[in-house]
Amino acid sequence: MYDITKINNDLKNALSSRRYEHSINVANCAKKLAKHYNIDEEKAYIAGMVHDIAKEFNIDENKKWIEKYNLSNELLEPEFEKIVHANIGAVVIKELYNLDDDICNAVLYHTVGNISMSLLDKIIYVADKIARDPNPTVDTATKLAYEDIDKAMIFLLKTQQEKLLKNGKNMDNNSIELLNYLKNKYN
Ligand SMILES: [Fe+2]
Ligand SMILES: [Fe+2]
Repeated sequence: MYDITKINNDLKNALSSRRYEHSINVANCAKKLAKHYNIDEEKAYIAGMVHDIAKEFNIDENKKWIEKYNLSNELLEPEFEKIVHANIGAVVIKELYNLDDDICNAVLYHTVGNISMSLLDKIIYVADKIARDPNPTVDTATKLAYEDIDKAMIFLLKTQQEKLLKNGKNMDNNSIELLNYLKNKYN
């Protein structure tokens, strides 16, 4: 159903070898989590593969996709520098591969999250952070990811918030909203 060979070749061309490797690691990790939580493993694998498809686009490519799909011009502002590839990636994979909306959503939400995230969205968000070399944050988040994906999300969001605060930056509003929403669920 999905042309994995084509997607794989496109990614190899679009991404540096380091980022391509990261994408495959996230895909494998997402597949494992999907199996653990009994959801479609292939969808999770594909979403993991393509989540950073737009990460190495240049300014002109970003502008082209933003115009074509009427996305917010705000995404070109420096504060959205690390976020814009999620919004663009979601429309790119729709146009190039006609991927299912749930896969597109997982790509859209993988950087800052959203309170309406599905289990697949959360799996991609978490896999992106834990499919990395071991360190204390990765190890704790991995353990939590298999116990309760929401607890892994809370841990990762809090860790990110602390890191940003240390650098005098604020977390994206969507992430703050999501963190508060998830914390309330456990009160
Ligand atoms: Fe990303
Ligand atoms: Fe990533």
